[in-house]
Amino acid sequence: MAIFLDTGKIEDVEKFMRMGIIRGVTTNPTILLKSGVAGGESEIRKRSVEIARIIAPFPLSVEVTTNEPKDMIKQAREFSGWAKNILVKITIHGPEGELDNLEIVHDLEKDYDIRVNVTAMMSAQQCLLAALAGATYVSIFGGRVNNMGYNCVEEIRKARLVLDAQHLQAKIIAASTREVLNVIEWLAAGAHIVTVAPDLLKAMIVHPYSKETVQQFLRDAEKAEK
Ligand code: E4P
Repeated sequence: MAIFLDTGKIEDVEKFMRMGIIRGVTTNPTILLKSGVAGGESEIRKRSVEIARIIAPFPLSVEVTTNEPKDMIKQAREFSGWAKNILVKITIHGPEGELDNLEIVHDLEKDYDIRVNVTAMMSAQQCLLAALAGATYVSIFGGRVNNMGYNCVEEIRKARLVLDAQHLQAKIIAASTREVLNVIEWLAAGAHIVTVAPDLLKAMIVHPYSKETVQQFLRDAEKAEK
């Protein structure tokens, strides 16, 4: 079981790497934009190369920014060439449900020897098919599933069950965290990895009663010195 950091911010990556807590980083175009990465592919490259260097040999997921099959393959080859530990994120299908993407995932993994994280998935059935296509990681968006009114725990549990039963190598990344309790709950449900937003990771560490306890220890240590 592992925790990845879901961010494009260098200071957060450095902070949690120094703590030894994280085993990888995930990004997507929205996360990069929020992290101040604008200006096209050269800026994505700059930020990705920097994060990849900081976390090496742990993996960094970088998502393609197009849904044109030829361009996706071109970008996947470029992105994965930026650093050894960069792998490529491809969505499960196109914006209108176009079916080219799993074929691309299969080609990238088998013919181009590029590791792929299949993303934007909402169900165990999508995870199974992405794993069968050869994906190294399958990302299920737990928070978004929950927002649709379904409990993603059941989908994660079923996804793990079918992957294990078929001896598929793909690792399940539970993504789209919304609450602190998601992390342990999703790992316990069978996710190999949960990718966590920096603010939630901070909130996992800090507890009001721990704060009060630490304050008490420091107060009493001070008194004992007098
Ligand atoms: C990570 O791999 C995902 O892209 C990310 O967790 C999605 O989060 P969101 O649902 O908050 O956009």
